[in-house]
Amino acid sequence: MTPSSPRTAIVTGANNGIGFETTIGLAEAGLHVVMACRSPEKAAAAKADLIARVPGASLDIMVLDLGDLASVRAFADAFRARYDRLDILINNAGILLYSAQTNADGVELQFATNHLGHFLLTALLIDLIPDDAASRIVSLSSIAHKAAGIHFDDLTCGQDGGVAYGQSKLACLLFGDELDRRLRAAGKVKKSLSVHPGGSDSGLFKEMEDAQREALKKQVEQLLHSNADAARPTLFAALSDAVEGGDYYGPTGPEEMSGRVGVAIRNPICADHEVARRLWRLSEEMTGQTVSI
Ligand SMILES: NC(=O)c1ccc[n+]([C@@H]2O[C@H](COP(=O)([O-])OP(=O)(O)OC[C@H]3O[C@@H](n4cnc5c(N)ncnc54)[C@H](OP(=O)(O)O)[C@@H]3O)[C@@H](O)[C@H]2O)c1
Repeated sequence: MTPSSPRTAIVTGANNGIGFETTIGLAEAGLHVVMACRSPEKAAAAKADLIARVPGASLDIMVLDLGDLASVRAFADAFRARYDRLDILINNAGILLYSAQTNADGVELQFATNHLGHFLLTALLIDLIPDDAASRIVSLSSIAHKAAGIHFDDLTCGQDGGVAYGQSKLACLLFGDELDRRLRAAGKVKKSLSVHPGGSDSGLFKEMEDAQREALKKQVEQLLHSNADAARPTLFAALSDAVEGGDYYGPTGPEEMSGRVGVAIRNPICADHEVARRLWRLSEEMTGQTVSI
């Protein structure tokens, strides 16, 4: 890229739901967006939709399966071959499972996809992110993190998919916070922030049986907002000048499910920095990658 090129962002899981809407917001703000998606076909269809919504959007598709560390490494190599800087990294992609599943390495699939894949991706690209106050790494957590813990002795959480989802989303927030502390300690001004989107009827619930999904939707329907509104905390964290590293944003309406973007409520575990440091060490061991800040 030349000095006059637009700033570049990566959005993981850009082809659907909140990632799709985040990509729209970044493209509208004039960024070049790399859509990091596991399915090239779904990404191509989403890119066509995006261009219809934002004519002139500057978009690139690159394949990334966050549940597979080799794919994350291949993505990082391919990105480095194509780009020499990255301004905004949105660690958005995620899965919610109701049954116990593991990846090819035998790691609980939600921890692997939602947390470890993004940990490795960030580690492999952080040196390309300029030390500039407008540079951002944004981690997506969830309201579900509030009732969760990190089950260091059993990352499968007793094979309970729902509990493991909360664990993975707590891991995303602990990672975002610990990355902020490490960036500050190193005197860097690039920012790590975390967000949660509240609740929206995205593809996240596709693993749930239809009847169960409909019943859940009926229960919480009044509280849900659109995927576009659910992307607002991410876009605020990525683009606003009025944020600080380590901030955690989400909707501030009833039960934090929708509403105006503001400061979100953390699980008190986040105040125990040793938990975050232990998770960081475990993530380095499991990915075989240290993070050079
Ligand atoms: N929607 C909500 O109510 C809600 C609430 C709290 C938190 N969140 C968080 O918001 C984020 C976005 O989720 P969403 O609601 O927009 O769900 P979504 O519509 O299902 O979108 C998730 C995106 O992640 C991608 N993805 C899944 N596994 C992947 C993998 N292994 N490698 C690469 N990409 C992968 C999906 O790709 P495919 O299309 O190929 O599956 C899709 O593009 C997630 O981190 C989720 O935990 C959502």
